[in-house]
Parts: sequence; structure tokens; C-alpha cells
Amino acid sequence: TEVVIVSDAAAGGELAARAVLAALDTRPDAVLGLATGSTPLPVYRALAELIGRERRDVSRVGAFALDEYVGLPADHPQSYRSYVAREVTGPLGLDPRLVHVPDGDPERARTAGEEYERAIEAAGGVDVQLLGIGTDGHLGFNEPGSSFASRTRVKTLTERTRRDNARFFTTPDEVPLHCVTQGLGTILRARHLLLLAFGASKAPAIAAAVEGPLTASHPASAVQLHPHATVIVDEPAASRLA
Ligand code: F6R
Repeated sequence: TEVVIVSDAAAGGELAARAVLAALDTRPDAVLGLATGSTPLPVYRALAELIGRERRDVSRVGAFALDEYVGLPADHPQSYRSYVAREVTGPLGLDPRLVHVPDGDPERARTAGEEYERAIEAAGGVDVQLLGIGTDGHLGFNEPGSSFASRTRVKTLTERTRRDNARFFTTPDEVPLHCVTQGLGTILRARHLLLLAFGASKAPAIAAAVEGPLTASHPASAVQLHPHATVIVDEPAASRLA
């Protein structure tokens, strides 16, 4: 696992954006794996800017989001479907027909996993997967205890994750109890993993992911199994690394 320490989140975003664009140089129909939450926002900002400045053709670029809440109306501003449309598809100018987010409809969520896996396969797999990390070590919404072989499925969010994400909602109990998430096994099949973390609150989770034992208790340790994983962190997030 390669660790790159950057001066701040903006520099990390630019570095990750360059890696994404390098993948597009070799494959104009490359498939991106999208994370949501705060961490990847500087990546999407840098990508929007560079795509515009370099007049890149992204009309054939595909994208698959990592996860989605179960039970939020699709047009809820905090659904990951809304996030991806607002922060990624629009600003980068992607073709919405090629951008996928797991179906968080409670009626369909249980069968959505297998369909999602098939759609990723049909697109040729993910070339570059952006990842954030939970303070509890989750990747996607694979909370502690998730199998390294897991595939897209419904999971229950931990109390800690619900508390961490309450900042996006009006009241803490508005945070959904369940989600659909790509599995660790799904994530590990992407050709290049880019795990980003900024800020001291992520330092223990990053140290355990990069230097800790491989364990389902710390799902992000799965990155150690990947032959091409890059961890992009600022100084505070790197502060617990040996
Ligand atoms: C988001 C996701 C999560 C977040 C993680 C960190 O799609 O899968 O694993 O990456 O919860 O969230 P932030 O970046 O908001 O600190």
C-alpha cells in the first residue's frame, strides 16, 4: 500500500483527480467508483475544473457509487443519488445514463445488490475506486464485521456511523438505519483503489487500515490485500502512522 502525504485536502483532491484523468487517458470509457460524504468533494471539484480546462471528452465515462441509504426518498437532498447528481454528474458533465447508484428503495433494496454487481461486471469493472474511511474503519458502508468477500447487499449502519453522519440531517434520528453497500469483495475487484482521509479524526482509522492486522473488525484493512492501493492523507490523518 502506497501512502502519499499531501499538504491539505485541496492538494489531495488534485492528486486524486490527476490519477482519475490518467485512467481516462488510457480508456476514454473508463469506469469510476464514486464515494460520497465530505472527503471526496475536493476530488470532484478538481476534476470539474481540470475537465473544463483541458476540454476533456467524458461522454463515455461510467460511474458506480459505493452505497446508498435505504428508505430515503430518492429526491431527498441527502440521498446519495442526489449527492452524485449534484456533486459529480452535473459538475463533471457525465452522461447520467452511465452513472449508477444502488437502489435504496426498501421494496427493491434486497434484490438491488445482485443487479448492481451485474451492472458493474457489464460495464467492464471499476478502473479507479475513490474511497473515504469511517472513524470505525468502514469502507463504503461495510461496518466492522463485514466479510472481505462480501458483495453488494443491505447492511445496518452502526450507531457511530449514524452519529457521524447526523451532521447532514436536521435531526439525528432522521439518519436511516439501513443502507445498500458494495461489499469489500466488490471494492477489492476495482483495478486501482484511492483511499482518501483528511483531518485528525481519521488518524486512528488510517493507521489501523495501513499498518494494523488484516481483520474484519477493521474493514479498511482490506486495502492491504489490494495490489494497487494508494492512500492519500494530510498530516493530521497521517499522524498515527509509524
Ligand atoms: C461514502 C462512504 C463512506 C464514507 C465515510 C467517510 O460513500 O462510503 O465510507 O466515505 O463514511 O465519510 P466522510 O468523508 O464524510 O468523512
